Amino acid sequence: MENIRLENGKLYLLDQTQLPNREIYITPETKEDYFRAIQTLQVRGAPAIGIFAAYAMALLDGDKAEIKKYLDSARPTAVNLSWATQRMLSAYNEGRDLLKEALDIHNEDKLRCRRISEYGLSLLNDGDGILTHCNAGALATSQYGTGLGPLLLGKEKGYTFHAYVDETRPLLQGARLTSYELEKAEVDTTLICDNTAATLMKQGKINAVLVGADRIAANGDTANKIGTLNTAILAKHFNVPFYVLAPTSTIDYTLNSGEEIVIEERADNEIKTMWYKEPMAPGVTKCFNPAFDVTDAELITAIITEKGIIKNPDTEKMEKLK
Ligand code: MRU
Repeated sequence: MENIRLENGKLYLLDQTQLPNREIYITPETKEDYFRAIQTLQVRGAPAIGIFAAYAMALLDGDKAEIKKYLDSARPTAVNLSWATQRMLSAYNEGRDLLKEALDIHNEDKLRCRRISEYGLSLLNDGDGILTHCNAGALATSQYGTGLGPLLLGKEKGYTFHAYVDETRPLLQGARLTSYELEKAEVDTTLICDNTAATLMKQGKINAVLVGADRIAANGDTANKIGTLNTAILAKHFNVPFYVLAPTSTIDYTLNSGEEIVIEERADNEIKTMWYKEPMAPGVTKCFNPAFDVTDAELITAIITEKGIIKNPDTEKMEKLK
């Protein structure tokens, strides 16, 4: 499954808002089209947003610095977006071929995801029950994914895993996207409401939690999809390993700790109306809808990057990785 594809100079994007019911590709043309695709989550997942924005920087005419600033403002938390647009801007300023640079970013992500998946797989045992949150699979990256990578690679290598998929309120990336990807790959999959995770851990059915990340601070605190912090606390309580899988492009060494990470807040309608025939709360009721939360490094068993496994992450170990 290719979520982002360049063909005859045109970019094709698999519209993730239509999944799992329809596989529709859109072809953004204007800078507003690209911005909207990122903001409305037609493309989502930290590395995928970066890849998509890199192509946008290559294909859009105009002031590249302005385009970078505009695209970066579409979603503030995932650092891969500004990381990719900055790399493209530097390539532009150095007079390099922008389409080649975007393709390089895309292809490098494939290699990184493969390495991350291999490292992740080395920590699992055949037959394990794995809890996942949000979607950190091929849809969120270029191939395999990060958090989902060990399951997808493991399947190819003949492992049998039991995936428990948090539906991931309120936008249901787990239900709509992770279940879709895992079913396609024929991985044994059970969808659960987010608040069922504690019961499964108590029953001893979860051997590890695997999640992706959107920004990692220099001390190892990680911003992940909202609800991940709950899962990390549960994992600590039930003594289940909690793994964060992400490429090194997700690490933001300018931030000392997770407290400095800007968390995107999204609209009320995502909670109250978006997935329902009728409103599920009174129109006047206020909502608090942060897209991400921050998991403290001390709750993380290991951060897994393409460069290796950092057990019990802290500032010293993260600095060494740099
Ligand atoms: O708001 P989303 O759907 O873009 O959030 C995505 C996630 O939280 C992913 O788990 C994260 O970006 C890691 S992607 C490999």
